[in-house]
Amino acid sequence: METLHVNLGSQSYPIHIGADLLTNLPAFLGSAESWVVMTDETVHGLYGQVLMESWNHSKVHTILLPQGEDAKSLTTVEAVLDRMLDLGVTRRSSILALGGGVVGDIAGFCASVYLRGIPYIQVPTTLLSQVDSSVGGKTGVNLSRGKNSVGSFYQPQGVFIDTTTLATLPQRQLISGLAEVIKYGVISDYAFLGFLETHFADLLQLEDEIMRHVISVCCQIKARIVAEDEKEQGVRKILNYGHTIGHALEIVTDYKEYTHGEAVLIGMHVEARMARELEMIDQEYCRQILSLIERTGITVDVKDLSIQDIIRSMEKDKKNRDGKVSFILPSNKGETTEVLLTQKEACSLLEML
Ligand SMILES: NC(=O)c1ccc[n+]([C@@H]2O[C@H](COP(=O)([O-])OP(=O)(O)OC[C@H]3O[C@@H](n4cnc5c(N)ncnc54)[C@H](O)[C@@H]3O)[C@@H](O)[C@H]2O)c1
Repeated sequence: METLHVNLGSQSYPIHIGADLLTNLPAFLGSAESWVVMTDETVHGLYGQVLMESWNHSKVHTILLPQGEDAKSLTTVEAVLDRMLDLGVTRRSSILALGGGVVGDIAGFCASVYLRGIPYIQVPTTLLSQVDSSVGGKTGVNLSRGKNSVGSFYQPQGVFIDTTTLATLPQRQLISGLAEVIKYGVISDYAFLGFLETHFADLLQLEDEIMRHVISVCCQIKARIVAEDEKEQGVRKILNYGHTIGHALEIVTDYKEYTHGEAVLIGMHVEARMARELEMIDQEYCRQILSLIERTGITVDVKDLSIQDIIRSMEKDKKNRDGKVSFILPSNKGETTEVLLTQKEACSLLEML
């Protein structure tokens, strides 16, 4: 097992990465009066029993959350909080989030507001949640007009990544996770981008050693960025490469067409071309980014969607500043720069691609 650290003073916590971690997980957990395992039906069916087998605690409750992006709503949060009150969950209880980013985001948010905050840990089971959403303490749900519009920065007590759980992940979810993996290469580590190019086939085959290395590198990059800028006032913004377009695509298609990762893959493809059009990167580097994204097999053509609708959906983007839309665009190998564009400028640029 490898252990990394997110250094945030009194809120610091470990990230444990290893195979078969779930089997012994209860042995690593601190004491709590009771535990609430938040998960969804699929993950519960696959891993609920493995987790419970070695757990001797007398008070472990399970709350099954609805699945899919639609579940990330205040309606779900209210139902979960009510259920916790019914179960008699106190401030000395803890939450264990077992699942993908949707479970993690909802469980983390519930932990942050229930009785003004109780501890929680993240046990991510999708590639996307293992390399990204479980680390950094961003929790929240969507409003109809904005993705992740309600939420909090609320750090977990620990992150436990069992790489064995990836074996049951559907191919589509694996590809979605690769979006955030590729993102780290573009925003922060050009050598890692090269590593991904070389080992792309191994990644698709879930080759264990390669997978663990990739998860570790991604978590190291994320931990470093979060430690530097927990509340996204500066450098943490670079994690949003591909996300301005990505979130807009999710909103315009009502979260039904693309998974989050697929939308980010398309977003990174479009935003790399925007950077090229603005002459921030050369043709060769742009091609390198695009080729890697295309190797996931994602269809990047979104011609059926109106550019006007996409831009309009950015109106409520949390990252907007001074009435302008914020894009994180590649500006050098392993580096990005924030570019602020008016809706009109963004529209003209997208029409040129
Ligand atoms: N908080 C953050 O910093 C952050 C960062 C990135 C993304 N996100 C959020 O994460 C969400 C996307 O997360 P996701 O991609 O993990 O999707 P997800 O949570 O919707 O999970 C995808 C599907 O995979 C299933 N699943 C999970 N683990 C499995 C396993 N091991 N085997 C088989 N099936 C499994 C789930 O039941 C679900 O149906 C989005 O809402 C996004 O906004 C948050």
